[in-house]
Amino acid sequence: MNVNRRVVVVERPRYIVPTANCFRLEQAPVPQVGEGQLRLRTLWLSLDVMLYARVKRVSADAEPVNLGDVMVGPTVGRVEESRHPDYKAGELLSGFWGWQGYGISEGRRLRKLDFGLKQPSHALSAYGTSAFGAYVALTELAPPLAGETVVVGTAIGGLGQIAGQIAKIKGCRVVGIAGGTEKCRIAVERLGYDACVDHRARDFVEQLRAACGKGVDVFVDTIGGRALDAVVPLLNKDARIAACGLMATPHFGEAAYSGKYQSSMSLLNEIINRRLQVRGLVVFDHLRHCLEPFHREMTAWIDSGRIKLIEDIVVGLEQAPDAFQGLFEGRNRGKLLVKIAD
Ligand SMILES: NC(=O)c1ccc[n+]([C@@H]2O[C@H](COP(=O)([O-])OP(=O)(O)OC[C@H]3O[C@@H](n4cnc5c(N)ncnc54)[C@H](OP(=O)(O)O)[C@@H]3O)[C@@H](O)[C@H]2O)c1
Repeated sequence: MNVNRRVVVVERPRYIVPTANCFRLEQAPVPQVGEGQLRLRTLWLSLDVMLYARVKRVSADAEPVNLGDVMVGPTVGRVEESRHPDYKAGELLSGFWGWQGYGISEGRRLRKLDFGLKQPSHALSAYGTSAFGAYVALTELAPPLAGETVVVGTAIGGLGQIAGQIAKIKGCRVVGIAGGTEKCRIAVERLGYDACVDHRARDFVEQLRAACGKGVDVFVDTIGGRALDAVVPLLNKDARIAACGLMATPHFGEAAYSGKYQSSMSLLNEIINRRLQVRGLVVFDHLRHCLEPFHREMTAWIDSGRIKLIEDIVVGLEQAPDAFQGLFEGRNRGKLLVKIAD
């Protein structure tokens, strides 16, 4: 009862994948609440690819966690004790206090979850960073028109599953790209994709071409690499790419991939010849103008059953490092969450 179990960062990833060795589970006393503070009992953690930047520096946008400090990340929890005027015991909040059983907060970067969530985990799956990224990609960066063909990478992952369903709501033909036949089946049967192609299949390029008979108008690219190589030749004139992430050609440094579009000149040539529009996603740039409509539309879509959520839930804080590693190995089957307590 008096112990705060927490996961600290002890090593930077040596290779592309952040292995479980980068973290250590340790115990500390449950933190005491000072004046103006509140203590949160963690219920859920969200494990996101974007957190990689908090373990190893990959851009100037995110400061890595110091070695020995608690790993940061999106959280949901309940106020256990409060000496803060704006919060009271029992309230359900989301925040960013990280991989630990209890967090202390001064009240900043917290959000009250008092808007009728169906379940607390939805704050991280339906309303989390990846879902918001999908919304921004398809409403701001590369909005599709009804009848157009949209291709979505990492089709059943945190961002991909929402992007695929938003594109369906907008009346598009939606083709997913996922790792393995089981994931492709889930994409079609549970998320409503019109087709889904396994990027590991030997005939991936041919399968994708067959699935996109009228070419591709919008590509929500979370992969890069061979997926980008396969999609670019299918892009129609005036097609749009929302560049969201690079799972296969890691921005993470030691990339082994050396495909055609690794050459920026050849990609630029395609951009000119096909009048492509490419816009990059950094979700935090869109908070001010997109968060309110995202929240409103997502609530309506979930309430009407038009968006379904696939959550991949692992249980126990001690599982977080290995599960996080699994994101970079494609082990997750849906939005990856860790359940810490009821
Ligand atoms: N720019 C932003 O602001 C922003 C915000 C949120 C997310 N994102 C991006 O969205 C993408 C998905 O992030 P997420 O947190 O929602 O994770 P996720 O899709 O739930 O999980 C990551 C997935 O990446 C795929 N993957 C892993 N290694 C791969 C490889 N070598 N080649 C191809 N695919 C590989 C796997 O799916 P398969 O097995 O299906 O291939 C894995 O399940 C990432 O690219 C992330 O950077 C960007």
